[in-house]
Formats: sequence, structure tokens, C-alpha cells
Amino acid sequence: MTDQKQDQVLIFDTTLRDGEQSPGASMTHDEKVEIATLLDEMGVDIIEAGFPIASPGDFAAVSDIAKAAKQAQICGLARAAISDIDRAWEAIKHSQRPRIHTFIGTSPSHRGITGMSMDDMADHIHNMVTHARNLTDNVQWSSMDATRTEHDFLKRTVEIAIKAGATTINVPDTVGYTAPRESAELIRMLIAEVPGADEVIFATHCHNDLGMATANSLAAVEAGARQIECTINGLGERAGNTALEEVVMALKVRNDIMPYQTRIDTSRIMHASRMVASVSGFAVQYNKAIVGKNAFAHESGIHQDGMLKNAETFEIMRPEDVGLAETSLVMGKHSGRAALRSKLENLGYELGDNQLKDVFVRFKDLADRKKEVYDEDLVALMSDQTTSAGHDAIRLAEMEVRCGTTGPQTCTMVLLVEGEAQRAETTGDGPVDATFNALKEMVPHTARLALYQVHAVTEGTDAQATVSVRLEEDGKIVAGQSSDTDTVVASAKAYINALNKLMVRREKSAPEELAG
Ligand code: KIV
Ligand code: ZN
Repeated sequence: MTDQKQDQVLIFDTTLRDGEQSPGASMTHDEKVEIATLLDEMGVDIIEAGFPIASPGDFAAVSDIAKAAKQAQICGLARAAISDIDRAWEAIKHSQRPRIHTFIGTSPSHRGITGMSMDDMADHIHNMVTHARNLTDNVQWSSMDATRTEHDFLKRTVEIAIKAGATTINVPDTVGYTAPRESAELIRMLIAEVPGADEVIFATHCHNDLGMATANSLAAVEAGARQIECTINGLGERAGNTALEEVVMALKVRNDIMPYQTRIDTSRIMHASRMVASVSGFAVQYNKAIVGKNAFAHESGIHQDGMLKNAETFEIMRPEDVGLAETSLVMGKHSGRAALRSKLENLGYELGDNQLKDVFVRFKDLADRKKEVYDEDLVALMSDQTTSAGHDAIRLAEMEVRCGTTGPQTCTMVLLVEGEAQRAETTGDGPVDATFNALKEMVPHTARLALYQVHAVTEGTDAQATVSVRLEEDGKIVAGQSSDTDTVVASAKAYINALNKLMVRREKSAPEELAG
């Protein structure tokens, strides 16, 4: 039960906008909709679904998310330009609770880029917020690079935005430059000195360049900000954005000294983290707070002894609080469909009957090859499902690889391309190289392999390998991922996954250079 005396802090998730701007983190339409659905279900108050004017693909994703959302406000980003604002509105207007978010860089260097004087910019802000406000009564204004903007000019821009009708004022630390005390003082100063400040919600939006995004966001809340802008896993350009899981769990665990509430169902955090890691291709570092593989692992002898005697000795939160079920043996090849459904539900996956049928076939196939199937194996199986490009034009039919100490290594592969079987026999500098050469022969492309990464899903020599690849072609970046007990097969499937996404991306225009 929410304690009514406690202050509510709104969680504004920008994984699909600022997070997706991280080079290489681009997501497909269906992946975005799936992530948004999960964010909505887990209690995110506002979902920034994208930048509708950036490309037709961005527009379509924001629009579909707006139509599907049940609880969350759906926000579209717009530069301070009529065309951007109108396009954002077109994309979100079907949502039950649409929000337009418009911004301009107000610091000296940003003013230099736009060539606007302070007076010109002040007028422009008035006009743009007024325009947005004529479309909806839910308007968010951001003074980009606020933490490096002269205080007098920042106060002036915020006052103009409030007078023009903005209902949320965002104060971004665009380059991750501020520190906790300064972050708090800035918010306190704006609330105390800007006329009308008591009628709006102040938001904090921090980047993590100096590793202080979480601390800066929490300091801003203590000074009066009531909206935190963040991303799952801290995904975002450069060092990323404030991590949703960190601020939410900090407010929950240290509620004694930070008495603020969020609406987030924290038991969905792990599921969201895994989904974002797998679709973005940005693996979570092992020692990442809250969602890292080691976050709840107590390896050292001293810790283990303490844990056995009393879990609270070293544990400030329980794994189940973030939705981390204990690693357990799941099932073997004799397990039935109902057991699989119930296990997947425990892990956070709700499946329709047809989806379950498909997953069950793949589960049986895995159980045939791998005696012990763990939770992590099922998560990997489900990730393969999530990252599919939808209609997969290219499918792997069969492959055989010869490797060993005497090269060159060889690959014989049969692909189904738009339903037609094609065959290639190639050599390479190692089995993976030979495999990728086969794919290049059958699906000619100029994309550069920008990332190739392998992770073991569990321990043991029969463990599945999760392979992530990133392909880059003419500025378009796509990520592919797949898991298999055979690392080279996983590599081939991950590459094919990326190629399928590339086909889809080729049909859409490349996104423009966006904001920070
Ligand atoms: O970091 C930033 O300033 C942004 C704005 C667009 C809000 O992402
Ligand atoms: Zn940002």
C-alpha cells in the first residue's frame, strides 16, 4: 500500500528514445512495442516512445505504442520547431494520455550552434511551447544542457515555458557534467526563484559521463524534482543515462532517508533488463548495480558463511524484489507444456497459445541436446523469440562446419532465402569466418561486422552460447542475437537475425542526427 504521506516521484522512461540513440542500440518496430508494453505493465508513468520526425519508422513505432498503452502517458520528442511538434502530436494523439516533449539547447555552446541571441531564443521558446500547448494540455519543456546554462538565462527560459503553458519542466544534465550538490542547488534555485514554479513538475534528466547520474537524480529529487528521466540498464549515448533500476531500488531500499514513492513493480526489473540487453545487443556488465549477473552473487568464503547464517548480513535487498528467481533446474525433455507455461510466467513471460506452441518445440529441441535446462536457458530461448525481425526472409536450414588445427576451416550451409533453398561451401580463417563467408556469398551485402561477442548462458561445457553481432551499412546499425549449444550455429543465427533486420531497415530511411 502506498503511504499517502509520502511524495510520489514520476518515472519517465526514455529507453526507446535517448536509450535507442546509443550508437548500435537501434531496435526494430516490434521490439519497441514489446518493450513499451512491459514498461507500461511495470508501472512506468511516462514512456518517451521516440522522436517521430526522425524517420517514418520512428513515427510508426511511437504511433503504435501510443495506441497500445493502457496506463502510461506516451511522450513524443520534438525539437523546438513547428514541423517537429506537429509530427510528434500526429504520432501520439491516439494515446489516452499524450505528452509533447519539446526542447532547445540553451547553454552558450548550443546558442552558438543555433546562432540565436538570448532574446531570439526566448521568443522562440514562447512560440513553440504555445504551439504545443494549443495541441495538448500535457507539454514538457527541456532546456537542453541546462546544467551549463547561465542561471539568469535558464530562469528566464523556464519562466517563459511555464507562462506559455508547459506543465513539466525538465532540467537536463546533457553531458553528465554536474555533481550531486550542484544538481540539488539548481533545482532548488529554480523552484525558489522562477515565478509559477509551484504550478509545474520539475524533472531531472542526467547522463552518466562522470558516473554520477543516479546520485545526481536522487539529489534533484531531494531538492524538489518529482520526475526522474531514466533508461533500463542505463542505456544511452556515451556512458548512458540514469539507470531506472538504480533510482527505483535506491528509493525503495533507502526509503528511511529518501521518503519518496514510485509506482514501479520492482519484481519486473530483471525481465525488463534482460529484454533491453537482448534487443539492443548491449550486454549488462557483470558487476552492474541491481541487474548485473554478480549483483546478488556472494562468492567469497566470508560472505557465503555470513549469508548462510543470516541473509541480511550482506544483502540489502532480496533477489526476488527485482524479479530474480534463484537459479534452479527447470525441466528436462519429459516436461510438459503446462509446466513450461508456468515456468515462463514465473520468469515474467505471458504467452498466447500459438506462441507457447512454438516455444515448446524449441524447448524440446534444446532439452534433447542439453540434459539440464535452467532458467537462464529459457530466458535465452525467449530472447531469440523477441529479437526475431518478424517476417524473416532468411532462415538457416542446415549447416556443417569443419574445424581443427589444419586450416582453412570450411562451412557448408543451406539457407532458405524467401523460401528458396540456396547452398554455399566456403572456407575461412576459423569456423566462424567460414560461416560468415557462406552467409556473405548467399546474401551479398556490404555491411561491416562492428561487433561479435559470445557469452556462456550457464556454466558447464554443454552450456548454450549467446552470440551478439552488430552490422553497420551506410549508417544503418542493426543488432542480432541468438543462442545455441553450438557456438558456431549460434553465430550463424545471430548474423542471420541481423541480416533480416537490415532488410527491414533498408526499406526505411536512416534517422537524422538527434539530441543528447
Ligand atoms: O540529454 C538531453 O538534454 C536530452 C534532451 C533532448 C532532453 O536528451
Ligand atoms: Zn539525454
